Amino acid sequence: MPYRNTPPPAHPRCDQTPVWAQLQEHFIQHGKHCNVRQAIAQDSGRFARMAVQAPHIGVDFSRNLLDETTETLLLQLAQECQIPEAIEAMFAGAQLNTTEQRAAWHVLLRTPPSASAADTGPDGDAWQAMHRQQQAFLDFAEQVRQDERITDIVNIGIGGSDLGPAVVVAALEAFTRSDKRLHFVSNMDGADLGSRLARLNPDRTLFLVASKSFGTAETIANARSARAWLLKAHGVEQEPDDIASLPAALQQRVQQHFVGLTCNPDAASRFGIQTLFPFEDWVGGRFSLWSSIGLSIAIAIGADGFRQLLAGAHAMDQHFRHAPLAQNLPVRLALLDVWYRNFHGFASRCIAPYSHALRRLPAYLQQLEMESNGKGCDLHGTPLTAATAPIVWGEAGTNGQHAYFQLIHQGSETVPVEFIVLREAGHWLPHQHRALLANALAQARALTEGKHDGPPHTHCPGNRPSTLMMLDRLDPHCVGALIALYEHRTYVAGVLWGINSFDQWGVELGKTLAKDILHRMESGTLHGLDATTQGLLGWLNSAETA
Ligand code: F6P
Repeated sequence: MPYRNTPPPAHPRCDQTPVWAQLQEHFIQHGKHCNVRQAIAQDSGRFARMAVQAPHIGVDFSRNLLDETTETLLLQLAQECQIPEAIEAMFAGAQLNTTEQRAAWHVLLRTPPSASAADTGPDGDAWQAMHRQQQAFLDFAEQVRQDERITDIVNIGIGGSDLGPAVVVAALEAFTRSDKRLHFVSNMDGADLGSRLARLNPDRTLFLVASKSFGTAETIANARSARAWLLKAHGVEQEPDDIASLPAALQQRVQQHFVGLTCNPDAASRFGIQTLFPFEDWVGGRFSLWSSIGLSIAIAIGADGFRQLLAGAHAMDQHFRHAPLAQNLPVRLALLDVWYRNFHGFASRCIAPYSHALRRLPAYLQQLEMESNGKGCDLHGTPLTAATAPIVWGEAGTNGQHAYFQLIHQGSETVPVEFIVLREAGHWLPHQHRALLANALAQARALTEGKHDGPPHTHCPGNRPSTLMMLDRLDPHCVGALIALYEHRTYVAGVLWGINSFDQWGVELGKTLAKDILHRMESGTLHGLDATTQGLLGWLNSAETA
C-alpha cells in the first residue's frame, strides 16, 4: 500500500504510448473496415469469445467494431498506461484528485467490516471512522422508517448529491416502503421545490440537505425556501438572518425536520441543523451515494438493503482489482471508449436501459462520465490533442425506439449503443418482460445487420456498433455492482486519457458569472457587462420580448 495520501505515480497518457502508433496503423488498415455483420456470420465462436462476465453482469462485446488484433493492441495499451498500478493506487487511497490533493477512495466505503488488512490498507483508523459514520446514518434511517409521523422525505441536493440517490431509489422502487414517499429536489427553478411543497404537510416532512460543500447555490436556495415554508407554518412570516435568534421552540422545529449530509458540518450547523451525518473529503461528489449522501436510499430500502447495495459494489470492486485485464469488465469498457472516441471518432454513446426502473441511469451517467472525463488538459496541465469523454445520452427502452432510434439506424452519425437488460423481470407482468427483451435483442441485431433490400428509404446500413449488458435482476446487490462498474470504467478511461477524473473546474466559471449577473439584476448595475447580456436583461425588464 505505498500510495496512501501521496500522489500516484505518473501514468503515461494513451497517445504517448508506443502502442498508440500501432493502433493508428491498425485502424487505417483494418479497424475502420471492420465488418461485424460478416464477423458474426462467419465465426460462431465470436459471441462466446467476446463475452465478459463480472459479478451479476454479463457483457456481450461481439457486436462491436473489434477484431482480435484490436483487442490485443488495446490490452497492450492498458498495460502501457499502467492500468494495474492505477487500480492499486485507487484502492490504496492515493491522491488521485491531484488538483485538490485528495484521494478518490469511495471503494473504502464499500469495504465490509469483515475485510482483511489487505483490503483496508494501512489506514485502519480511516476505515474504522468511516464505519462509525456509516452505522450512525444507517441507524438513523431505521429510526425514520419506524417514525410514523414522517410520511415524506425530501432530498435537497444537486449533481452527485441528487443523481446517485435518485437513480438507486428509482431502480429499487420494488424494495421501498409505500408509507414513506421519497422526493428529490435539485433545480434552482422554484417550480421544482414549490410544486412539491404544495402537496406536503410540514409536520410530516423530513428534509435531507445533501451537499458535500454545503455551499452549492441551488441546494442552499432550496433548503432556505424549505426552511421558510416550515417556519411559516408555525407563524414566522419573515425569517431572521441568523436562525439562532429564533425562539428555542422554532429552532427545535428546524432541528426536527432538517438533517445535514455534508463534509461541512459547521455550515450546516449555522443553517440550524443539528442532526448531521458527515463524510470525508476523499468521497467525490459523483461517487458519494455510498456515503451518508445515500441516506435517502437507506430510508427507502432499509439499513440491510443499503448494506446489500454496498456488498454488490464491493463485489465489483474485487472484480476490478483482481480480474486480469482481458476479463476485467471496467477495463474492457474503458478501452472500447478509447477505441471509439479516439480512432473511430464517435462523438457520443447512447445508454439504453431496457428497464423502466433504470430510467434515471442516463442522467446519472451524464454526470458521472461527462463531469469526470470531459477535460481538456492532462494531469500535468498540458492541453490534450486527443479527444476525451464522449457525449453520453439516452432514455429507457422501448421509449427511445419511438424517438431517436431512427437516427441511430439511418442517420449520418454512428452512435454506439449500450443496451442494458435484466435477466429477471422483477414484476408481475412477465409476458411484457419477454417482449421488452425481444425488443432490445432485435434493436441490437438490426443495428448489426441493417437492411439492404426494398426501396432505398427503407435501407439501414447496418454495421452499427452496440454492447449488450445483462444484469441478473434489480435488487440492491445487482444495482450496487452496476453502478460500481460504471464508476470504475470512468476512472480507467480517465487514466487512459491522462486526465484527473475527480475534479470539475469547468463548472466554476458559470457559477461565478451567475452570481455576478444575479447581483447586477438585483442592484441594476449593468456597467462592464457584455452587450448581449445587457440586451437580454433589457428584454426581461420589458413587458414582452418583441
Ligand atoms: O456541479 C459541480 C458539483 O460540485 C458536482 O460535482 C457535485 O456533485 C455538485 O456540484 C453538488 O455539490 P455539493 O454536494 O457540494 O452540493
